[in-house]
Amino acid sequence: MVAKILDGKQIAKEYRQGLKDQVEELNKQGFTPKLSVILVGNDDASQSYVKSKKKAAEEIGMISEIIHLDESTTEKEVLNELGRLNNDDSVSGILVQVPLPKQVSEQKVLEAINPDKDVDGFHPTNIGKLCIHEQTFIPCTPLGIMEILKHSDIDLEGKNAVVIGRSHIVGQPVSKLLLQANCTVTILHSRTKNMSEYLKNADIIVSAVGKPGLVTKDVVKEGAVVIDVGNTPDENGKLKGDVDYDEVKNVAGAITPVPGGVGPLTITMVLNNALLAEKMRRGIK
Ligand code: GUN
Repeated sequence: MVAKILDGKQIAKEYRQGLKDQVEELNKQGFTPKLSVILVGNDDASQSYVKSKKKAAEEIGMISEIIHLDESTTEKEVLNELGRLNNDDSVSGILVQVPLPKQVSEQKVLEAINPDKDVDGFHPTNIGKLCIHEQTFIPCTPLGIMEILKHSDIDLEGKNAVVIGRSHIVGQPVSKLLLQANCTVTILHSRTKNMSEYLKNADIIVSAVGKPGLVTKDVVKEGAVVIDVGNTPDENGKLKGDVDYDEVKNVAGAITPVPGGVGPLTITMVLNNALLAEKMRRGIK
């Protein structure tokens, strides 16, 4: 079997057109969503991510700003900046790029974001709402994964989904979304014994670890849907997923490439959530 390639770039393009139309509608009502991104320090990958988010926001007609703070910025200074954005009525959505320098507590910063402007969905209030299925900001990569599955008409009802990785950004929230979609969900992590025992029964595999070559052909069931969230740069700066793509595509039923799979959807869902934030505060459905 040769897998169907789940083209994240194309799915994102179509989705962003829909968002652009909605931004135009809001403009007619006198509102323009604004996304403010705080970046602390000079991590190359983070700088590249935030630039992509700003560019994508502007392409659909949103206003976007990057607040770039020095590597030596104190926690108090970051919290002050957040306080300013929380109270700035022109700002619809706020995102603080992680990781943060070691003198700044990620947890404190994420908890200081106004939950109504929390486009990442990392605030405990929004995580709690996700757990009880209340309307909320859902973390962007998990939301993007669900959009890929939906767009590709992949039936999730009663399927065995195996998620590799238990991070707050991807593994745990995507597990909750798959559970809400009526999958039977297993989460594997660094202490799991015999990963292949679980993987060989998986109808859907989501790998979000950051270990190139982790998911090989021999552990994937014929016809499984394989979603690769890994994006680790190799020695030439080329992004590598967790999945051995060239081999696994010959057994999987469907597979996301890296790059061009999940990544474009993550950025799209940042825009989706910024638009949602603007609509929520204006009381627009
Ligand atoms: N760093 C890596 N992924 C993410 C993300 O989705 N949001 C933020 N804020 N930082 C990240």
